[in-house]
Amino acid sequence: MLSTGPRGTKDILPDVSGYWQYVENEARNICSLYGYREIRTPVFEHTELFLRGIGETTDIVEKEMYTFKDRGERSITLRPENTAAVVRAYLEHKLYADTPPAKLFYIGPMFRYDRPQAGRYRQFHQFGIEAIGSKGPAIDAEIILLATQFLKKLGLDDLVLQINSVGCPECRPKYRVVLQDFLRDKLTNFCKDCQSRFDRNPMRILDCKNEKCGALSQGAPQMSDCLCEECDTHFNHLKELLTAANIDFTINPRLVRGLDYYTKTAFEIQYAPLGAQSAVCGGGRYDGLISECGGQPTPAIGFAIGMERVLLALEKQQLLPSIGHHMNVFVMPIGTQAQALAFKLLCNIRQAGHTADMDFMERSLKAQMKLANKYSAKFAVIIGDDEVATGKVLLKDMKTGEQQHIMVEELLNKLDAEVEE
Ligand code: HAM
Repeated sequence: MLSTGPRGTKDILPDVSGYWQYVENEARNICSLYGYREIRTPVFEHTELFLRGIGETTDIVEKEMYTFKDRGERSITLRPENTAAVVRAYLEHKLYADTPPAKLFYIGPMFRYDRPQAGRYRQFHQFGIEAIGSKGPAIDAEIILLATQFLKKLGLDDLVLQINSVGCPECRPKYRVVLQDFLRDKLTNFCKDCQSRFDRNPMRILDCKNEKCGALSQGAPQMSDCLCEECDTHFNHLKELLTAANIDFTINPRLVRGLDYYTKTAFEIQYAPLGAQSAVCGGGRYDGLISECGGQPTPAIGFAIGMERVLLALEKQQLLPSIGHHMNVFVMPIGTQAQALAFKLLCNIRQAGHTADMDFMERSLKAQMKLANKYSAKFAVIIGDDEVATGKVLLKDMKTGEQQHIMVEELLNKLDAEVEE
């Protein structure tokens, strides 16, 4: 099909791209407020990075990656997320040599072969943060605060922040055993996915979206009861810091997250009006990922916010700013003789820094006036045969309707003065 894009992709058309720029600008502003700097990594990486980084038993790796062999027979994957790639870049470019923590952010497309529906796409965009190098809970609190402040600044209220601790390689294996003991007898009643998770990744059974599985796992032992002292202290400190910063949160002991690299803190921000795809933000600590990717053991934490979901939420709540297609000046040539002078003036007007456009379609004066109104132009510069002959153009104030003939040389000064006003 040449007339439609691939399933799960969306064109961001000019009438909508202004909303994206608005949200992206807010993301950049808050990052600079908090001292995070942009990192841009390629949209494809060696497949091995995601197999190791995200975990071979995750849905993303098992079912959702766009993986292919390039012409040099290398296995390549379009990034399904960016944390592993940022860690790869951090190690490759020795960003650890700089004063830690490395505070990085990114905005860009990700790719997952997911079942498309409202809020879920195969190419989607994330605004993400990664803070690499600090193990203390203060950085956890900082990035959670950044995420909530960003969403609130856009006007989104009624956000629900859920937090949990998923433990560490010391306490999690013990919890696994306790959890498997609880689930074993009921296992045949769980869905096929959960059954296959039992040995490989039993904690994922807790956040299965299947209602029957949810009911069956009610009363399961909780990770919080099995945390080692270090994880427990970390989680308690985080809760204290969030409370001190006036951030509302709920503890969801079933919050596990779909990527294997998480340790200790895991969190999500839900926006209920979005329905089935209500998670606007997901993140957590990944203290083992950097050593998994070949670096020194280095603690880190981050999150990613789904841009499409944020924009859907803003649209639903009518929070999108009015963004039109405005031009300060519209130049109107009438007849072919006027075209050359009009084009020269257009160039000069733009050179002087005024947004300006002209008619390129040989429209009638009436049609050009309509267009100038559509662009909410402050001024129209009308050029006909008389104007070409006299070297004067007709300047029309589109608001008052006032018109005056003015020498071409004076036009720019006049525009500067009027637009300033
Ligand atoms: P994630 O939970 O897989 O985490 O994705 C984060 C957010 O991306 C989700 O909450 C959602 O808003 C958005 N998202 C995910 N999949 C889709 C999709 N198919 N269509 C539209 N939006 C989607 C991560 O990606 C981690 N890398 C986050 C992280 C950063 N953890 C630590 N650092």
